[in-house]
Amino acid sequence: MTRIFISKDAAALALGADKVAVKIAAEAEARGVAIEIIRTGSRGMVFLEPLVEVETPAGRIGYGSVKASDVASLFEAGFTAGGAHARGIGKTEDHPFFARQTRLTFARCGIIDPVSLDDYASLAGWRGLRRAIEIGPAATIAEVAKSGLRGRGGAGFPTGIKWKTVADAPADRRYIVCNADEGDSGTFADRMIMEGDPFALIEGMAIAAVAVGASKGYVYLRSEYPHAARTFQQALEIARGARYLGSDILGSGHAFDIELRIGAGAYVCGEETSLLESLEGKRGVVRAKPPLPAHKGLFERPTVVNNVLSLVAIPTILDRGGEFYAGFGMGRSRGTMPLQIAGNIRFGGLFETAFGLTLGEIVEDIGGGTASGRPVRAVQCGGPLGAYFPPAFFDTPFDYEAFAARDGLIGHGGLVVFDDTVEMAKMARFAMEFCAIESCGKCTPCRIGSTRGVEVMERIIGGVKVDENIALIEDLCQTMKFGSLCALGGLAPYPVLSALRHFPEDFSPRHALAAE
Ligand SMILES: Cc1cc2nc3c(=O)[nH]c(=O)nc-3n(C[C@H](O)[C@H](O)[C@H](O)COP(=O)(O)O)c2cc1C
Ligand code: SF4
Repeated sequence: MTRIFISKDAAALALGADKVAVKIAAEAEARGVAIEIIRTGSRGMVFLEPLVEVETPAGRIGYGSVKASDVASLFEAGFTAGGAHARGIGKTEDHPFFARQTRLTFARCGIIDPVSLDDYASLAGWRGLRRAIEIGPAATIAEVAKSGLRGRGGAGFPTGIKWKTVADAPADRRYIVCNADEGDSGTFADRMIMEGDPFALIEGMAIAAVAVGASKGYVYLRSEYPHAARTFQQALEIARGARYLGSDILGSGHAFDIELRIGAGAYVCGEETSLLESLEGKRGVVRAKPPLPAHKGLFERPTVVNNVLSLVAIPTILDRGGEFYAGFGMGRSRGTMPLQIAGNIRFGGLFETAFGLTLGEIVEDIGGGTASGRPVRAVQCGGPLGAYFPPAFFDTPFDYEAFAARDGLIGHGGLVVFDDTVEMAKMARFAMEFCAIESCGKCTPCRIGSTRGVEVMERIIGGVKVDENIALIEDLCQTMKFGSLCALGGLAPYPVLSALRHFPEDFSPRHALAAE
């Protein structure tokens, strides 16, 4: 029986993967060909979805961008034995987009049946958790510290230090909270993991629980991810049934269980303290710090809040050692980062690599430049609050410090590419509008400042007293940057100021008149 793999990742579904799977099953039956269709997560090559892979003695042979109307000709070409066809891409793992990656976090995604415990275990699953149980909390935290892992949710805080703070805080109960709100524009890595390798997240959270002595975990997932919710819920039930979760995980004496909670759709609920408010059933409003969530978090107990990608890096770190993980990367950015390449880009998708590639390599070599074929004008890195970098910054290595030195951020690893038709003054206005819409309203610089920011940007775009209004928006940005309570108001000036600094011609009175 030939095994055929087709992704059921949301991106693949949106591009017609279900129709292709149904057609392949029907065609095989009509032709009397024995096949088994396995629905996987995505390999991350979104530009090739729906990707159909066939297991052959030489490995998995891929057929990209398959339509239901291609299926009959695929059978005629003998694709079930890896036969040649116009949609053929050869061995999937030899594809240049895939072969250049270092897949640690996404090692299994796109390969396994996401809810098969056997598949998970066959590719190193649960080995990290077993080791954590064996070496105990202090050595587990030491291993995480040694790996140099920094939070992948945006702030880049060292995970080992966070865990130690929680473990050391005296308390009757501690919590693990996974931040799966994934609000940044152009990001989809958390979703891909939860749809394609959910046991990895469960294992990462269970290791965190063993390390800090937590008995309960929550995953806070955005409501816009129904497929991820379904797959993750199914994985939770299977893991519970097999005693990877429950009152005595793997017979270790540790009790730990996880609950999935769905957010109601606010960007600010990705900020850890408003996420905790929301989990507690309140309105998602930012809490003043201190106290840190590590001291007083969910229900006032010490709480680890970590992003999906931070937690999914953990099983590898425990299994292969902190030193192994720290062996990848540059400077203080250790390990790998799943880059999410989106926007106007030829080869869009997820590319996991060690820190240190330059922005130019990512956009031009890996991403293949713009989908429109026009020159790249700007790349926004790090979500809606990230700076716009011009091609002159393409020599910037993908590294927390290198981006910060150029007033940018890498955030959750999202890169949104724009061609030369983009109007940067409008993008600056959008940053202020986004902040105004998403502001939780707790502090004045953000609540009022963002609304005033939209008005000032509209005057600049309309050509009204441009120089005066540019000075005003710069001043307002300084107030928001230094006076806001959290990074929503504090970072919104980054896209605005970077647009002004790197694309001043879009803000000139002449440009405003030409745009009329
Ligand atoms: C406005 C705002 C939105 C955020 N959204 C997210 C998010 O969607 N996912 C996430 O993991 N972190 C988000 N963060 C960062 C979290 O506050 C927090 O730093 C993170 O969850 C900690 O996990 P980590 O150390 O693993 O990165 C956001 C922060 C701010 C200020
Ligand atoms: S900066 Fe904005 S989102 Fe953050 S606390 Fe202030 S009002 Fe709320």
